[in-house]
Amino acid sequence: HDLQGLNFNLSEEHLAVQEAARDFAQTELLPGIVERDNAQQFPTEQVRKMGELGFLGMMVSPEYGGGGMDTVSYVLAIEEISKIDPSASVIMSVNNSLVCYGLEAFGTEEQKQKYLIPLASGQMIGAFCLSEPEAGSDATSQSTTAEDRGDHYLVNGTKNWITNGGTSGVALVIAQTDREKKHRGINCLIVEKGTPGFVVGKKEDKLGIRASDTHSLLFTDVKVPKENRIGDDGFGFKFAMSTLNGGRIGIAAQALGIAAGAYELALKYSQERKAFGKAIFEHQAIQFKLAEMATRIEAARLLVYKAARLKDEHKDYVQAAAMAKLFASDIAMWATTEAVQIHGGYGFVKEFHVERLMRDAKITQIYEGTSEIQKLVIARELVR
Ligand code: CAA
Ligand code: FAD
Repeated sequence: HDLQGLNFNLSEEHLAVQEAARDFAQTELLPGIVERDNAQQFPTEQVRKMGELGFLGMMVSPEYGGGGMDTVSYVLAIEEISKIDPSASVIMSVNNSLVCYGLEAFGTEEQKQKYLIPLASGQMIGAFCLSEPEAGSDATSQSTTAEDRGDHYLVNGTKNWITNGGTSGVALVIAQTDREKKHRGINCLIVEKGTPGFVVGKKEDKLGIRASDTHSLLFTDVKVPKENRIGDDGFGFKFAMSTLNGGRIGIAAQALGIAAGAYELALKYSQERKAFGKAIFEHQAIQFKLAEMATRIEAARLLVYKAARLKDEHKDYVQAAAMAKLFASDIAMWATTEAVQIHGGYGFVKEFHVERLMRDAKITQIYEGTSEIQKLVIARELVR
């Protein structure tokens, strides 16, 4: 797993994507961000523009209306957008790396025509529904059922914490068909919004990423046609795990962006704020904080780019993705806390943005597999 042979030189195309994302974040996401966070207001107009600019289906083949870009381009965009607005980047991450990727990699041609094309262009947003009230980390313990009724499945159960839950036009729903077969009896079904019996439940009131919408989804005798199953019968759990391997690179990039965004604000502030007759940057205690932040963020960046590069090179990236997410999410939590400290009292109020990034950072240690689960994944790979 060393870096040998991995070329981190970014191409002209990579730099152009990075710049486009940076501009978009500054001009479209920064205005109104404090208000959206306060009001838990979904960035509808901003997400529509993200779709127009190609940020919602970046890696999808142009054949299905996507950008046909590599994973490195994707993490560069997520990183830039997360420096400003991690709520927008989670909406983007779920749509790109869980929903679009899952459909493109494992869906049928008919499923791609019907669902991937509108999802890749952002005409429609997708949700990925694995977690349940009683099954988060322990994801094989599914209570939601998808009973085989011949030409359709009958879905019953509750999904929890679903990102894009209230806004999605389509949901990928993991459910148990044959309990005796345990995780090999689980399926993933594509369920359209408006299907009778499919109801959007409570919206969560959250610590961070407050402008993203997180809902429970309720399924009561929902009839889903057989052609909406992804992969063979019993492939659903493998589908979820395989998709999450790539999703974790997106969340690692989100965490990296949060850390880097807070660091950039703190560096600037430290050169402007004066105490004891000089800029606080001139106090070595503050310089050392920034030096350490810059170093750890760079280390996180290398792990994130490495995982992305491995995926692009079709090499095994399971462990690299877990390491990137584990490390970058810890750096996000730590660096945002330091950024608040460097801002002093101003860091504690909303206008200076770092308190929001600190609140937003926390979730990166929890979703798409908690830090403890990433360690479990890494440890299993050590002896595989
Ligand atoms: N990649 C591919 N396949 C994998 C895999 C991986 N990383 N991890 C496990 N599998 C496969 C195994 O090969 C096995 O299949 P076979 O028996 O057919 O070989 C099957 O999955 C079951 O694996 P285990 O026996 O290891 O299962 P386990 O119950 O001991 O542990 C786990 C599995 C790794 C802990 C898993 O449950 C897990 O990842 N939990 C975390 C769930 C999670 O990440 N949820 C995120 C929800 S989405 C989200 O959060 C989105 C968002 O916020 C924005
Ligand atoms: P639990 O699994 O109950 O874990 C509680 C604690 O126990 C954690 O610290 C955990 O690490 C630890 N733990 C559990 N098992 C072990 C073990 N074996 N070894 C060591 N420690 C362990 N899910 C989706 O499916 N789709 C989404 O779009 C989605 N979006 C989300 C958005 C938000 C804002 C939030 C908060 C959650 C979202 N989730 C989503 C759910 C998220 O993936 C789960 O919350 C997460 O996987 C943890 O599950 P849990 O909350 O049930 O915690």
